[in-house]
Amino acid sequence: MVLSTNRIGLFQEAARFIHSCYEELGLSPQQQTLRVQEIEQEIIETGTYTHTEFELKHGAKMAWRNSNRCIGRLLWETLEVFDERQVQTAEEAFEKLVHHIDYATNGGDIRSTITVFAPRTDGIDPLRIWNHQLIRYAGYKKEAAVLGDSANIHMTEMCERLGWVGAHTPFDVLPLVIQEHGKAPELFELPTDCVKEVPISHPEIHGVDELNMKWHAVPIISNMRLEIGGIDYPMAPFNGWYMGTEIGARNLADADRYNMLPSMAKLMGLNTNSNRSLWIDKALVELNIAVLHSFQQAGVTLVDHHTAAKQFKVFEKKEQSCGRAVTGNWMWLIPPLSPAATHVYHKPYKNNIVTPNFFYQKDPE
Ligand code: ARG
Repeated sequence: MVLSTNRIGLFQEAARFIHSCYEELGLSPQQQTLRVQEIEQEIIETGTYTHTEFELKHGAKMAWRNSNRCIGRLLWETLEVFDERQVQTAEEAFEKLVHHIDYATNGGDIRSTITVFAPRTDGIDPLRIWNHQLIRYAGYKKEAAVLGDSANIHMTEMCERLGWVGAHTPFDVLPLVIQEHGKAPELFELPTDCVKEVPISHPEIHGVDELNMKWHAVPIISNMRLEIGGIDYPMAPFNGWYMGTEIGARNLADADRYNMLPSMAKLMGLNTNSNRSLWIDKALVELNIAVLHSFQQAGVTLVDHHTAAKQFKVFEKKEQSCGRAVTGNWMWLIPPLSPAATHVYHKPYKNNIVTPNFFYQKDPE
């Protein structure tokens, strides 16, 4: 028997992955050949193949290493991989996701973690999660204004259609929406004690705590597809820890998100009538100092953008010494605060897509 044309692509991807993965792990050419033959047989018989546990684990780490938008890739080898491919129901998946949050949060000493659920088979996704991140705040449209996080209005409305009623504060943690293939999406409320949050205060400026800002400790992206050796994992939520600017220069600062710069400027007594007073810039810096200070106070891992850029430089050197070209998406890699003060700004990066990797995917149907 030979491979039909539509399976050749999968086989080639698989073979390419096996060779690089096994090579990196120091496995011999014979072991590589044997495994590739075994996979070829499995694809002929079943149309797909199954990763061994160590292939899955190393493949997921490679996917992080290849994530062009991520400045935190120096730590790719430290990723903790939970193999939950056997999970079949939304209910059980929810339990695993709560475990992921607990494990990753670790009382504030955040651990980079991914939980991998069943792969797509015959074009079918056994399980999908609708949430963009496991922990996100609801956004409610109120006529012209928005209460909460405007980035999540769509998801909030979906939860409401499924019967969820939020408390209508600016920081309501959204429930998870998990879907088994062929079934209606199901709603699961996260236990409040598993969601660690950090209240934002400032080391010097009084009154920042009274702005009642906070943010959740762990960013766990949950809607991307993990691709390893031609196999798609449509549900594989993963997390690192925050870089301060994600919260202080975007989530809380963007005019169409929490828009906190005018309130910061007011507290600081700045002249907001003149652009040339640089009140926006001053408020931004102080808001970011507040985020860095608050996470430190709360004992929650978070990296500042200068340290992150330095770590990325070490990553670039390390990759080069391993003979791998570093790919990157410059627009995403530069921090949104003082970008030109980091080396990343002054360097071109090739945005070539290398697999394994994480990809955007369409929402489930
Ligand atoms: N920027 C996103 C947020 O603010 C999180 C993206 C992933 N970030 C990370 N540090 N791993 O929620």
